Amino acid sequence: MKGGCITPGTIAGLFCPGLLLLASAEIAVYTNHFLVELHRGGEPEAKQLAAEYGFSGVRKLPFIDAGYHFYHNGISRARRRRSLQHKLHLEKDPRIKKAVQQEGFGRKKRGYREINEIDINMNDPLFTKQWYLINTGQADGTPGLDLNVAEAWELGYTGKGVTIGIMDDGIDYLHPDLASNYNAKASYDFSSNDPYPYPRYTDDWFNSHGTRCAGEVSAAANNNICGVGVAYNSKVAGIRMLDQPFMTDIIEASSISHMPQVIDIYSASWGPTDNGKTVDGPRELTLQAMADGVNKVMFLLNKLGKMTVLLTHTGDGAQILFTALYMEDFSEAGFILDLTWRDMQHLTVLTSKRNQLHDEVHQWRRNGVGLEFNHLFGYGVLDAGAMVKMAKDWKTVPERFHCVGGSIQEPEKIPSSGKLVLTLTTDACEGKENFVRYLEHVQAVITVNSTRRGDLNINMTSPMGTKSILLSRRPRDDDSKVGFDKWPFMTTHTWGEDPRGTWVLEVGFVDSMPQRGVLKEWTLMLHGTQSAPYIDQIVRDYQSKLAMSKKEELEEELDEAVERSLKSILSKN
Ligand SMILES: *[C@@H]1O[C@H](CO)[C@@H](O)[C@H](O)[C@H]1NC(C)=O
Ligand SMILES: *[C@@H]1O[C@H](CO)[C@@H](O)[C@H](O)[C@H]1NC(C)=O
Repeated sequence: MKGGCITPGTIAGLFCPGLLLLASAEIAVYTNHFLVELHRGGEPEAKQLAAEYGFSGVRKLPFIDAGYHFYHNGISRARRRRSLQHKLHLEKDPRIKKAVQQEGFGRKKRGYREINEIDINMNDPLFTKQWYLINTGQADGTPGLDLNVAEAWELGYTGKGVTIGIMDDGIDYLHPDLASNYNAKASYDFSSNDPYPYPRYTDDWFNSHGTRCAGEVSAAANNNICGVGVAYNSKVAGIRMLDQPFMTDIIEASSISHMPQVIDIYSASWGPTDNGKTVDGPRELTLQAMADGVNKVMFLLNKLGKMTVLLTHTGDGAQILFTALYMEDFSEAGFILDLTWRDMQHLTVLTSKRNQLHDEVHQWRRNGVGLEFNHLFGYGVLDAGAMVKMAKDWKTVPERFHCVGGSIQEPEKIPSSGKLVLTLTTDACEGKENFVRYLEHVQAVITVNSTRRGDLNINMTSPMGTKSILLSRRPRDDDSKVGFDKWPFMTTHTWGEDPRGTWVLEVGFVDSMPQRGVLKEWTLMLHGTQSAPYIDQIVRDYQSKLAMSKKEELEEELDEAVERSLKSILSKN
């Protein structure tokens, strides 16, 4: 893979450059295009004249009698002075009534944000194609639909001081765009047990995945090579653990806990076979390693005054990006950042944006505290700029508590048509030590079997009326034996809500084929805080969003009214 660019294929779309070099207000720019009016004569005469004066082309102008467009083909430079001689010659010609050299002026595409306008100048040749960093519409995409990472860069957060471990099929650490950001000391090859996680070469470049991930994160900036990483001043460590016949719990766990004193973020862009029917998750040791990482290691990091941000983004090609931003130690400015993994999740929920994400099937809705979410996109696109700005004034969220909100363990038949509806009324452990008043995550631990697992459909609605689709149709999954065994379905749609009241679980089959199934357990697990993490912040945000949506509604109504009257006018004609 040496030599080639590691930027992912999906970003190399059609780049649409801005219009020609054009005039500033003060200096008139004259082009090599002339309007020429003849006294008389048709196209043959015009062609004759154009040839005499050295123009390469001529075109009849339909809006002027005996008017022609004389031009030079090819890219000729715009001139700063009128080509006086040329013009005088044309004017002197008795066959010509009038000759006007055309002036050049500016025309910008609407909604086209030029990269230079936000003052990010990178000389890396593929930078302008990395639409997910700065989307100007260059890949036929939607301008502005990006990670807003430029704002975070401008604020000074570029990944400096952070090391990201890429758990994957290896890293081509000799690649010229990665070599300077490679952290060899924190790297290891768990697939072949040595310190050199270099990918195994195959003709089809099958093992280039880890290298791509590393490039998306840490490709060096301004080196005239390929593109730019989202955190271009960060370091990457290669943790090679894929590309072996079988994964084991011990390799997964070892990888995820490799050198936590050096590695700030672990990137895992892989999972169980993605064939639409496999139901699998991390095993015992790996779960333990994750819990340790979150509870022990993050705590250590906080003490160092570092903040790390993990951004994931699913783009057109289902790319997943991992971003690391580094927040300087602000002790000099009077405060030290103390962000936990939960703070990161709160920041993500609060700052992510609907942007211009469109979902035909699932509506964007607001949950009980006004946060806008969608079944496919969650809380929307990550906004790196908003995230670092909010993080600066962030107060660590209060302690988290866990409450079993209730459990139904009596087997209940799922009807072949229609659905099984169960309810659980909970006080969310109020009056006890582990009372949960403001929700973070909610889990529905479910055991269920059915004649066809892929046709099962499970929704859960919170007391504040927020519906989460826990399981939708999986057409390829024809399991009829295992079902789900104590599977922890999780939702974040109810984030910030009050969990007290009645929760509703709906279980049904999508297909109209006769099916059988039994729900054997539904346990409601509530996780969250007792005191409000930032309730003022939400209320403010909700109000401004509400004001915005009212404005949009009004605009929509106006548009519809205009459309209606246009239609009625047209139908009358
Ligand atoms: C589901 O479990 C019930 C009770 O254990 C059993 O009677 C039934 O046959 C099972 N159904 C399927 C489809 O496996
Ligand atoms: C779950 O919600 C989806 C989307 O609103 C709906 O299509 C489906 O019928 C619901 N299923 C059940 C079992 O309520």
